[in-house]
Amino acid sequence: MSPRSLAEPLRGEVTVVTGAGRGIGRAVAEAAVEAGGTVVGLDLPGPDLDGLAADLHVHVQGVDIGDHDAVGAAFGSIASEIGPVGVLVNCAGVICDNRPAEEVTEDDLDRLWRVNLKGTFFCAQAAVTHGMIERRHGHIVNFASQAALVALPHQGAYTASKGAVMALTRSLAIDWAHYGITVNAIAPTFIWTPMSTPMLQIDEVRAASERRIPLGRLGQPSDVAGVAVFLASDAAGFITGQTIPVDGGWTAGEPGLAL
Ligand SMILES: NC(=O)c1ccc[n+]([C@@H]2O[C@H](COP(=O)([O-])OP(=O)(O)OC[C@H]3O[C@@H](n4cnc5c(N)ncnc54)[C@H](O)[C@@H]3O)[C@@H](O)[C@H]2O)c1
Repeated sequence: MSPRSLAEPLRGEVTVVTGAGRGIGRAVAEAAVEAGGTVVGLDLPGPDLDGLAADLHVHVQGVDIGDHDAVGAAFGSIASEIGPVGVLVNCAGVICDNRPAEEVTEDDLDRLWRVNLKGTFFCAQAAVTHGMIERRHGHIVNFASQAALVALPHQGAYTASKGAVMALTRSLAIDWAHYGITVNAIAPTFIWTPMSTPMLQIDEVRAASERRIPLGRLGQPSDVAGVAVFLASDAAGFITGQTIPVDGGWTAGEPGLAL
């Protein structure tokens, strides 16, 4: 482990957080600032990204991560204007409306594949070629989902895209280990964010999820942000290719079975 302090584990690291405009990405950006990182928030252009820049005084880049060339250009300008990229947290993601698998459309599949898989892949490629390979050091944290471990009903396209992120995480970890780059993923359960709110506002869904989670509550973005910072730091430097559930125990088993 490097001599970097555990109190500021990202000190001096150019830390790119995608999806930083809101939800989990915003919480990760805040935690990364606290951890001493030089944070670059990347998201679609708009008020959320403007708010991030105004509130946290971090660098921002308005980019569609599904656009290969735009991602390359953004990381190129980050490397030349701010410094070589040391950390990437791939938070940006999308979900689609609930529908049974027989009704999933080609558009659903294309949109989720484009952002959740290709966007994650493009940003990882750009991060390693704009800093990590040259430095022989770097940490990448991807966002899978609990849905990749236990299927989320009526979300076949999302579930498949997040399973692909888990597989990609292992693949990148193996390909880039010899550069000293780690690649891990987080698989959160239901976390209160703008993405999940429409689902969690349905009383039965919220109550059933709270009952199903052994720790008895849904997650907050802050429950995930600290784990992302840990995996992005040298403290986790001997972990690679893993997907860490942050799920209050959901995938450990069912609570409250009266045996
Ligand atoms: N919230 C949950 O319950 C939950 C559970 C499991 C996994 N996740 C995953 O965690 C990550 C963050 O989720 P969240 O709940 O904070 O979502 P969110 O919708 O609240 O935020 C996602 C962010 O990604 C950005 N984004 C979407 N498409 C983009 C694109 N093409 N280019 C750039 N930015 C783009 C959005 O603008 C938004 O700011 C996602 O990958 C999501 O799939 C969330």
